[in-house]
This record gives sequence, C-alpha cells and structure tokens, in this order.
Amino acid sequence: MGKIALTGIKPTGILHIGNYFGAIKPALELAADYDARYFIADYHALNTMKDGAELNTRIREVAAGWLAAGLDPERVIFYRQSDVPETFELATMLMCFASKGLLNRAHAYKAVVQANGEKGADPDAGINMGLFTYPVLMAADILLFDTDIVPVGQDQTQHVEMAADIAGALNFNYKRELLKVPQASVRENVAVVPGLDGRKMSKSYGNVIPLFCTEKELRKLCMKVVTNSQGIDEPKNPDESQIFLLYTLFATPEERAALAARYRAGGMGWGEAKEELFRAANRELSPLRERYNAIMADIPALEKILKEGAAKARAVSSQTMARLRTASGIAL
Ligand code: TRP
Repeated sequence: MGKIALTGIKPTGILHIGNYFGAIKPALELAADYDARYFIADYHALNTMKDGAELNTRIREVAAGWLAAGLDPERVIFYRQSDVPETFELATMLMCFASKGLLNRAHAYKAVVQANGEKGADPDAGINMGLFTYPVLMAADILLFDTDIVPVGQDQTQHVEMAADIAGALNFNYKRELLKVPQASVRENVAVVPGLDGRKMSKSYGNVIPLFCTEKELRKLCMKVVTNSQGIDEPKNPDESQIFLLYTLFATPEERAALAARYRAGGMGWGEAKEELFRAANRELSPLRERYNAIMADIPALEKILKEGAAKARAVSSQTMARLRTASGIAL
C-alpha cells in the first residue's frame, strides 16, 4: 500500500472556479501518487448550515462536482463523513485526550471570541460546541485512516497540527503508536484565482464564477470581470489584468503568449479580451458541466457511489476503532 492522503470537503457553498483550481484539481493530481481518501465533511457543515434543504443540496452538488471534475471512485475512496459512524466514536474517544487549552487556541474559535469582545458581547455569544470541538471531529476524520498527509489550504494547517498533537497524546498514554501522526501538505504554487472584482475569488466576497453555471451565465460573468479604463488603441499590461490572470488558468502556454502579445500591441479592447476568456473557460468547463448535469439527474446512482465508498472506508475505520477499543479497555 502506498502513502495515504486524506482530505475533507466542507459542503457549505456552491463550487466555483477558485475551488476548482485551488483545491479540486490539485487534490485530483495528488491522487495519482497516493492512496487517496476524499470525503464530504457534512457534519462539519452542519455547524454553520441549519437549513436542511440547503445543506442537502450542497452535499449533492459537492459530491457531483468532484466526480464531474474527474474523481475516479474506483481509485479514490470517496464517501460522506456521516456514512462512517466510527468517525463519531473516535471523536468521542479523542475528546478524552484533547486538552481544553489546545482547543482554546484554535484560530477559528478565537476569531469569534475576539469579535465578540470587540462588540462588547459575551465571549461565548454564537459559539456552539460544534465550533469549539471542530478540531476534534477533524482529528477523528484524519486519524481513523492512518493518514500520512492531509492536503489542505493554509487556513487548515493548525487543525492538522492539532490532530497530530491529539494522536501524540493518545499514543503517549498507551505507550505505542496506535494512531499514525499526520502531516499537513499545504498547497503551494496553486494559482490565487481572482474574482470578478479582482480580489481573491471567494464565496464571502460574492465575486465568484460558479463552476457549473450555464454557458450563458459563464459568458455574462466573464463580461463582468473588472478592467481599467484604457481605450481600445492603448497598449495594455497583461500582468495587471484580471481578465488575463483568469485566462492564464484555462489557456495553453501558446495561447497565453499570443494573448499577451495582443495586449501589449494595443488595438484590442477589453470586450475582445473578455470574449477570449469566455472561449477558453467554456472549452474547459463545458465537458465538466455536462458530466455534472448528468450526475445530478440521477441522484440514486450518486448515492450508490457514496455508499460503496463508505463501505470501503468502513473496512478500514472499523479496524482502527477495534484496535483502539482494545487498547483503551473499552472492549471486553
Ligand atoms: N475543515 C476543513 C475545511 O474547512 C474540512 C475538513 C473536515 C477536513 N475534516 C477534514 C480537511 C479532514 C482535511 C481533513 O476545509
């Protein structure tokens, strides 16, 4: 068996091209070299999403999205966190090894406490135990599968370090390596995808291009990307153009060089550059969109893929839990 890469995808928003280039594509590339386990962290999402219909839709979209983007469920174990009940048993066990002080230091939790302080509100306002214990649930996700590396964005490295700390505390107590100590693998060199307004593309800025929008909408959004006020004849600097940065993600190196030359020569207006962007984006995204629509049209088939993934995951997770029950004295 090769090394294990595991990551969770929190279904809290519509997938956009920032997710695609920043997380989905790199994770799928990594799956060529590792035994990959990718799952939908639906209980993590429940923390912030209390509308059942909406959460359900997001879970389906994210699952269909990863499959449409090329995740091969024969090679990657692909499942829903909620279909692997050992996750929640392990989380309960890990609670007994995770110090409260450790969790007090979690950035996400601390940020809310701090915001409460700035507003003069009670420090605990709006904080549920799901937020406070988020790192423990995440540690359970990771430690259940003897994970070597956890591909994540920079914002999640602290959580992976906490998982390593908690594994260390448990191993120390039982004086052997019952749990593998994982490492974060931070995606570097992945492009920062600019949003329509030029800031980083992010759901919270409302500046996204959804990955699976219709062709018509894609075109409309490409036309909305910010530009400066330079006229058609003026030479333009491709490196300062959000349109060009986005184009770079979709174009071949030759196409990139050709468009850069047209920018520098002058005589090309922003409208034309936007058309080029749309053409390149649609070329890459239309086969994904077609696969996505086909998957979303057959939810029972999607459900079957996820259930098969969960069965494979549980073959591993039940062994981990059996090992821990024995070591801890819980098993008779
Ligand atoms: N917390 C991660 C995020 O917000 C999602 C996640 C849940 C995760 N469990 C995980 C990531 C386990 C890696 C490993 O993006």
